[in-house]
Amino acid sequence: MELLTGKRALVTGAGQGIGLAIAQTLASHGAAVMLADLNTDALQLARQTIDGQTGWVPCDVSQLEQVSEAVQRTVDELGGLDILVNNAGITRDASLKNMTEQQFDDVISVHMRGTWNGLKAAFPVMRNHSGSIINISSLSGRVGLFGQTNYSAAKAGIVGMTKAAAKEFARGGCRVNAVMPGMIDTAMTQAMPPEALARLVEDIPLGRPGQPIDVANAVLFLASDLSGFITGSVLEVTGGQ
Ligand SMILES: NC(=O)c1ccc[n+]([C@@H]2O[C@H](COP(=O)([O-])OP(=O)(O)OC[C@H]3O[C@@H](n4cnc5c(N)ncnc54)[C@H](O)[C@@H]3O)[C@@H](O)[C@H]2O)c1
Repeated sequence: MELLTGKRALVTGAGQGIGLAIAQTLASHGAAVMLADLNTDALQLARQTIDGQTGWVPCDVSQLEQVSEAVQRTVDELGGLDILVNNAGITRDASLKNMTEQQFDDVISVHMRGTWNGLKAAFPVMRNHSGSIINISSLSGRVGLFGQTNYSAAKAGIVGMTKAAAKEFARGGCRVNAVMPGMIDTAMTQAMPPEALARLVEDIPLGRPGQPIDVANAVLFLASDLSGFITGSVLEVTGGQ
């Protein structure tokens, strides 16, 4: 069953990992998908893995004009924008003692500013119809992780931002929700020290790290009409952690 026939989606950070799985999953349910990422080589490879109507656009989510351009390209090339997934992300982990101001600012500007830029750029296009926006938060934003004072703050901020934006978008029928993944097996987590990774897996009641498709399926639910009365909510995808 296709859940998104005729819908047009923009996914940031779609070059690899969770963003790529989200783009593939939305496309497999009938959506036309615009892939946005900093990494244009990854975007071109990613596009080849997706059947159906797709486009790609270079985009640094921390720059509002680039996000606005990505929204405009989606409208011009796909005919509109019904689904926005603010997924792009980075980590710059370090203990408070060692973290630099630059590492703090970089993470805040990609995650918090980047998500706000997506909401801001999409508002004129999506406020007056029954679209769906999904922001990718993290369990780190709810429990706080050692070495992630920047990332935990940014991901907690995305939760508050989601709930506030849901109220502003709701007037026209557009929904705004967040997905909060736990540990997911991607390049981002593979960059962590192996012993820290092993400790994290031990804490997962379902006994395994999540896969990108686990997050993509939650995004699919929130993007589709199956979640038509859900807005301002946070869906945890953590294996029970
Ligand atoms: N992997 C996990 O365990 C996990 C857990 C919770 C939340 N998340 C969140 O899920 C999202 C995706 O993470 P992932 O694990 O797939 O990471 P990843 O590193 O595999 O992929 C991130 C993608 O974002 C792109 N990107 C980075 N900065 C960008 C920018 N400024 N503008 C546009 N694109 C940019 C990268 O080029 C890359 O393609 C992130 O928001 C991350 O914080 C991941």
